[in-house]
Amino acid sequence: MAKTVNNSKLSMDRRSFMKSGVLAGGAATIGAGLLATGTPARAQQTPARGRLNAGDAAILRFLAAAELIESDLWTQYAELGGLTSGQPIETDPNQSLNAYQAALSNLDGDGPQYITSNTLDEVSHANFLNAYLESRGAEPVNLDAFRTLPGSQATGSTGIKRLTNLMHLNVDTSWFIRYRSSTNPDLGATFPQAITLNNVPAIPITNADFNDPNHIQAIANIAAFHFGAIEQGGSSLYAAMSQKVSDPEVLEITLGIGGDEIAHFLEWVDFAGNGVQAPVAPFTDAKTGITFPNFFDPLNPLIQPSLIFPVPCEFISSELPKVSIIRPLTDRVTGAVAAINGLIQSGLFIGQSRQFLATVQTLAAEADAAFRLVL
Ligand SMILES: [Fe+2]
Ligand SMILES: [Fe+2]
Repeated sequence: MAKTVNNSKLSMDRRSFMKSGVLAGGAATIGAGLLATGTPARAQQTPARGRLNAGDAAILRFLAAAELIESDLWTQYAELGGLTSGQPIETDPNQSLNAYQAALSNLDGDGPQYITSNTLDEVSHANFLNAYLESRGAEPVNLDAFRTLPGSQATGSTGIKRLTNLMHLNVDTSWFIRYRSSTNPDLGATFPQAITLNNVPAIPITNADFNDPNHIQAIANIAAFHFGAIEQGGSSLYAAMSQKVSDPEVLEITLGIGGDEIAHFLEWVDFAGNGVQAPVAPFTDAKTGITFPNFFDPLNPLIQPSLIFPVPCEFISSELPKVSIIRPLTDRVTGAVAAINGLIQSGLFIGQSRQFLATVQTLAAEADAAFRLVL
């Protein structure tokens, strides 16, 4: 009897302890300490942490390929537009920035830092995924044989051979409207281009491109929309793949890296919007013929630059309340094959061999074929 009284007192004390809020963190710490002395939660989730099942391996192999592709394109951006090693950009901007870095800095003073950081993140994603695949008995992905494309000849470019083309791109800008719309691609919605960018350079091709202020600003603006296009794709891809993985540890990886893609995307939403408002816009680049309008004039919520967070949209069913989410989320719209096809249509692989396209399309098809197992 005495024991029962004590127990209910303990549980009452615990309730008021948790309710106090300030002490809730202390309770969480106690819980973590108890866990540490018992069976680790991770071991409970993966009792036989051996080889990956075939579906999870296929998903991670495709994601590793996607990260190698991202690393390659971001490295090209970083060589020309990222932080220049050893140069005191913050303290001596006029001496240290090339015209492309300066144009990117017009969109955000920290632009070169963000480009370098995004690049390092992609390299870390690719390295981690390949190392993890090996640690679980699966083949890592190596695309080195396909590094065949010439890069930029402008000063700053290292001249190494590339997997991807950034000099003749069709940049999909529909994401800029999609994330400001209340409709959802997973429920069938389609979106027009915010600005038409076909067969355009996203990096300076030669040093001549540095000399025309409007042209180099246009290249920086094109890059800004391409940054958003790439990172929104990564955000949706990881979300779609996460719904297909089986092993909780693999889900931990896809949620963790996918979250970083979303973090990148948010910055580039803001960044791209700075190229289509004062003081950068409106302006016209005579070389490409592209005009970047001021999207605040006239005000249109579907392209309003300051609406940087995902506007609430339909989700699951149009009968349910609208909700702020990333989208698309289904592998029907944003699966691995859809992602690769989108990259092909963007011109990112212009000049690549048939073997390269066959390799990445096979990896994509194998990832899309994976489905969630009840383990
Ligand atoms: Fe990534
Ligand atoms: Fe990314």
